[in-house]
This record gives sequence, C-alpha cells and structure tokens, in this order.
Amino acid sequence: MRLDLQWLACLALCLAVFSTHANADARIKCPETCSPQKTGVRTLAELSKTACIKSTEFVFEVQVENAESSLHTDAYNMTILEVLKNGMDSPQGENRVFISRPSCKQKLDLKTGKTYLIMGNGNSIKKVAGRYHYLFDEQTWVQYWPTDTEGATKQFQTQYNNLEQFRNDMFYGCKSR
Ligand SMILES: *[C@@H]1O[C@H](CO)[C@@H](O)[C@H](O)[C@H]1NC(C)=O
Repeated sequence: MRLDLQWLACLALCLAVFSTHANADARIKCPETCSPQKTGVRTLAELSKTACIKSTEFVFEVQVENAESSLHTDAYNMTILEVLKNGMDSPQGENRVFISRPSCKQKLDLKTGKTYLIMGNGNSIKKVAGRYHYLFDEQTWVQYWPTDTEGATKQFQTQYNNLEQFRNDMFYGCKSR
C-alpha cells in the first residue's frame, strides 16, 4: 500500500487527531481492542442472529488483498466480494480499508488472499474525506470463510456449508422473527 491520501486519512483517523468537530466527544477514536477471529463451527442460527440484530450495520464477505503496518495501526485492504447486509455504504465489488490496533494482529489472524466473513456495527464505520473506512472493534465478528476446495474436506465441511447457507439466506434479507 502506498503512502497515499487515503492511507494518511486512515492513520489520522486512528490517531484520533482527525477532527473538524467543535465537540470533542464527536472525535473519532480508534478502538482500544478487538475481538479475536471466531474459531470452531458457528451454527446458521448464530450467524443469522448476529447478522440480523439491528445494531449490525454491515455483513460482508471479503478477501484480504494486502496489509500495511505502522506504529499505531494495521491497515487491511479488502475486496468486498459480497455485501450480505448493506448499511450506509454500498461497497459491492469495491475495495475498503479496515483498520485495527497492531496489538490485534495475532487475534485477528488475517491472511493475504484469504476470504472472511466480517460483521460489524455502525460505530466501526467512519467517513473520512468522502470515503468509508472500517475499524475492527470489540463488536466486530471476523470468521474464516473456507475455499470451495476446503469446503469439500472433513475439517471445513460444516463451517463451509453453514456459511454458504447463511449467504443464501441473507440474499432474501433478514426475516422478522
Ligand atoms: C487494494 O487492492 C486492490 C486489488 O488488489 C488494488 O487494486 C488497490 O490498489 C489496493 N489499494 C490500496 C490502497 O493498496
């Protein structure tokens, strides 16, 4: 990732110095910590419940393109492969920058070229210089999305099937339940 404007905006955002607001409370603060990547099998019910609660603003299937670390932030360049729940942003097929604390690197365990399910709330979406950026925080759900090939293996089969079914269900939106 080059040190371009977008990147600088991200950095400023996470250092909480990017503020045009008179009200100090409105300043953007980078979350102190984040949830670890979800491991183990997650049921369809659990996925749907999390995706469909009102506070969940976005549900994306993403691919990690590259990552850049600095002293205070890690920035992940993600391709949004599929928007399963749309919030204020509609990034289908586009790239978005996701930001976290360097201390989250091991917990998030995101690998270049791999695909993940990411769900989060509105607080973790920040608009800076006309572009949306995403922050990993304690509410962010991150889960590995196995490849089609992995989905045929015993290790990943259930996880893969649950995610594929979840994607299909979300195509019809969140049912009132
Ligand atoms: C993000 O990845 C895409 C696809 O590889 C690339 O075209 C784009 O330049 C990258 N963006 C940044 C900021 O590195």
